[in-house]
Amino acid sequence: MRTCHTTLKLSAILCLCALVAGGLGAGVSLAQNTPANLTIHADQPVAKVSPTLYGLMTEEINHSYEGGLYSELIQNGTFRSDWSGILDWYLVQGGSSVAKMSEDRTTGLSAALPYSLHLEVDGASPKSPAGILNGGFWGMAVRANTTYHGSIYAKADTTEIGPVTVSLVADQSGRVLASAVISDVGTTWGDHHFLLKTGEIDAVSTANHFELTVTHAGSLWLNLATLFPPSYHDRANGTRIDLMQKLAAMHPSFLRFPGGNYLEGNQITDWYDWKKTVGPLVNRPGHASPWGYWSTDGFGLLEFLEWCEDLHMQPVLAVYAGYSLRGEHVTPGPDLEPYVQSALDEIEYATGGAETTWGSHRVADGHADPFHITYVEIGNEDMFDRSGSYDARFAQFAKAIRAKYPELQLIATAPVTTEKPDVLDEHYYLRASQFFDDVTHYDKTDRKGPKIFVGEWATREGTPTPNLGAALGDAAWMTGLERNSDIIVMASYAPLLVNVNSGASEWVPDLIGYDALRSYGSPSYYAQVMFAARLGDVRPASEVNGGGPRFFYSVTEDTAGRRLFIKLVNASSDVQPVKISLPGVSAGPDSQVSLLSGRDTQATNTIDHPANIVPVDRPLAFTGNTLNYDAPAYSIQVLDVPLSE
Ligand code: AHR
Repeated sequence: MRTCHTTLKLSAILCLCALVAGGLGAGVSLAQNTPANLTIHADQPVAKVSPTLYGLMTEEINHSYEGGLYSELIQNGTFRSDWSGILDWYLVQGGSSVAKMSEDRTTGLSAALPYSLHLEVDGASPKSPAGILNGGFWGMAVRANTTYHGSIYAKADTTEIGPVTVSLVADQSGRVLASAVISDVGTTWGDHHFLLKTGEIDAVSTANHFELTVTHAGSLWLNLATLFPPSYHDRANGTRIDLMQKLAAMHPSFLRFPGGNYLEGNQITDWYDWKKTVGPLVNRPGHASPWGYWSTDGFGLLEFLEWCEDLHMQPVLAVYAGYSLRGEHVTPGPDLEPYVQSALDEIEYATGGAETTWGSHRVADGHADPFHITYVEIGNEDMFDRSGSYDARFAQFAKAIRAKYPELQLIATAPVTTEKPDVLDEHYYLRASQFFDDVTHYDKTDRKGPKIFVGEWATREGTPTPNLGAALGDAAWMTGLERNSDIIVMASYAPLLVNVNSGASEWVPDLIGYDALRSYGSPSYYAQVMFAARLGDVRPASEVNGGGPRFFYSVTEDTAGRRLFIKLVNASSDVQPVKISLPGVSAGPDSQVSLLSGRDTQATNTIDHPANIVPVDRPLAFTGNTLNYDAPAYSIQVLDVPLSE
């Protein structure tokens, strides 16, 4: 097939005759590219489109879960400390109250949390309470008429310390927005649950914090403080509603988790040891993430799986394969065997029945039904393993997994020869111009080799989230993914999420940005939404003649619904006229176009201006079998064209 970007550009021709049905015109240029003639043979399917083409890739990076998708409001609820004291917690004292807090390594809560916060109150009164406060993850969103579910483990030296008050307080005014009393703190550890119910609040903001105070002298030991707002699907320990809604709008078919580098850890000791991320929170020790901050693992393996369930995504489970980010590897053979066994146990935890050892753990953790898994990925970016051990490591995992789970499709993260993978995971982080130049990347890929999973890719332009120029690079690349989706079974943009507060992010750009209260989609996010919403199941024959050098397209068809999805990307500053012909068929009524465009490549969305670049849906006047459409400068559009009988 001839690809459109190799054709000549004729720019700076004035377009004085905009007699077209498209041309929704956000671009300012009156110049136009060489017209493109796009012919689509709707009744000649040439390849299948993978139904799982678009999905999500995720890991704990940029505070994706801690301070992100995981709806926990309290930062460092397990009271970890460093040289400066207990992180994210501050004393409440004043007037006549006197208190101090310290880490107590002799008074542990559990084997997983073998320490506690020791609050020593020398003096306090109802007028002058003493205690601790937590400011959340760069603030704490408190909404009106909302119930927050909280809990904390506590014990006291004597019951004289009296009741403990927990509350949500506005930072500036000191107004108490909600409070509750824990009246039964005893001298042994107790798990105390409370509800904080807000009433009317003038203005919703993030300038709020959580307080825990007492009004008598005494000693308290505390650990595992949690506070949750209402979550998506009302799950306990659940996910943030606005972010889940944004993800749902992407129509994701799969979720690749838990990483990425997060799977590997910086060194072997930091590997994603999934068994420490399941069960009651009190049994989860947390671990160091390669992205520079602690993960409590409150959002653990079961939460990932439930996330899949909530958004109807199939889990693409990545298992640690004995290679860590800074170059350490586990020698294949007996040393690797515990990791292979862990992977087998992990698959059993996710997919096994109640009669299996690890399936029964999942049932005990509250999820009776097994999850369905098709793909297991072995490692992450193992091409960086300079020891050359991946071929043998992959083979050891693959043999063991295939022996027990022959139905699973196995994904390799680098080429291997000893044991053939079903799928190969490839990653691309490029500039827009590089994606434009590489749009035909998979056109000639060997169809007899493993299938391809483009498990991480992104146009790296814009910060903290991609701008319109990046979205154009992404959309151009996606036309190539769709054209080759007979071999590309899955593809996922990365990274997915970023907390936009200063200090929260390690990587740019990221698809969706948020703070404690608000979230927004980048132009690249909307490109994903648009492409995935109209995927189709076959690719019909098509060819293009003419068109500018930065014009890209893809055509798919929904055969059951008899609709064509025509994706046009004009990444140039000039209008791109496109004459679309459908020999042998006609467009039916109610064609539509969804258009994303802006004035220049730097145009973007931000947390304060989330809707600068958003898709606009309009009817499209397509009758008969020919349409003259003007793709505006810097535009991405999906034409949805029903076919008449
Ligand atoms: O997406 C960010 C990182 O890029 C991933 O963790 C890693 O797999 C890749 O190198």
